[in-house]
Amino acid sequence: MKILSIVGARPQFIKCAPLSREIRKGHEEILVHTGQHYDAEMSDVFFKDLNIPEPNYNLGIGSSSHAEQTGRMLIEIEKVLIEEEPEMVLVYGDTNSTLAGALAASKLHIKVAHVEAGLRSFDRRMPEEINRVMTDHISNLLFCPTETAVTNLKNEGIIEGIYKVGDVMKDAVEYNRDIAEKRSTILEDLNLVPKEFMVATVHRPSNTDSIDNLTSIVKAFIDVDETIVFPVHPRTEKYLKEYALWDKLCQHVKVIHPLGYLDMLKLMSNAKKILTDSGGVQKEAYMLAVPCVTMRENTEWVETVQDGWNVLTGADHEKIVSAIEVFRASKVRNEIFGSGKVSIKICDLLNLHVHS
Ligand code: UD1
Ligand code: UDP
Repeated sequence: MKILSIVGARPQFIKCAPLSREIRKGHEEILVHTGQHYDAEMSDVFFKDLNIPEPNYNLGIGSSSHAEQTGRMLIEIEKVLIEEEPEMVLVYGDTNSTLAGALAASKLHIKVAHVEAGLRSFDRRMPEEINRVMTDHISNLLFCPTETAVTNLKNEGIIEGIYKVGDVMKDAVEYNRDIAEKRSTILEDLNLVPKEFMVATVHRPSNTDSIDNLTSIVKAFIDVDETIVFPVHPRTEKYLKEYALWDKLCQHVKVIHPLGYLDMLKLMSNAKKILTDSGGVQKEAYMLAVPCVTMRENTEWVETVQDGWNVLTGADHEKIVSAIEVFRASKVRNEIFGSGKVSIKICDLLNLHVHS
């Protein structure tokens, strides 16, 4: 089968790596990079770290408003789909690249498979929530990471094509954990002692685009007596500088450029706690058994909270400080993201679908 996979943003490179490897064992894969993320440290480094094949197309869309970015992707993706005539389009997660890929394909009557289907924060102010809902409703195959995701889809009346396969990021963690441990020198480079530092990431518009929320988060990082390493997303760097928070933050926190996956994995697995608003990082914290403080009011990954490994603080200064200082994770851990080998399960289902 000819499968066309669409990626564009950092978390999608990580999710596509294990699945692409598996797909290419039995199918022809055409890889399309929308160019949503384009800096070397937001894109190239992942292709290199994870041995992802060079994309067949890079659409070079870049940054702009939601409508312009998504609209330009739609136009360019449609041209590629008409040229390549794939039997299936594979999209990942919940970015504008996901929605554009699913929408362009479904209008051409090409089947769409959505990896990481069914996630909901029930917060329609998040751009990702709109992308998830729309993508799920036009997908033919919905690969869900959790039981909650399956239930969410059923509650919206989607009943066909749903498969609970587990979380593909688990494949990425399992494949790369030892490689990262051996190859990455990030702890030495930053002078860090295992389990004596915390890692932070922040990039949600609800935190970065609000001066009050970003100030509250920065103040919390400064007020606690902890070594915090903070690889800063370009969106966040822009706002930290605009709100004049950058210099103060750099005086108290180890502020660094975005990291490649292997360095990030090594950093996270050796951290005492992880402080984040990222979806992927919340999951990885759980997979690596590191307690997580999530600076959001809600999460799609409710099981991490229910299981006692993640706590929600929003951007509330007191709550963040308290969680950094006193939150202790549960001793119990269930396999909430499945038993692994997710890429193989997805490929088996794709094969079944072709032959049915
Ligand atoms: C996007 C996704 C989000 C995902 C995140 C992963 C949408 C709506 N959002 O958010 O779901 O969690 O990626 O990181 O799809 N920029 C650069 N260089 C880059 C990329 C971005 O400087 O290589 C800057 C630009 O100023 C840009 C801003 O970051 O305007 C935001 O980038 P964009 O891709 O629009 O959204 P993200 O916040 O990265
Ligand atoms: N990540 C990384 N380097 C960084 C920050 C994050 O490799 O400096 C990885 C992280 O380990 C996870 C993924 O990027 O696998 C998460 O992406 P992000 O937080 O940008 O997006 P989200 O998951 O929130 O959509």
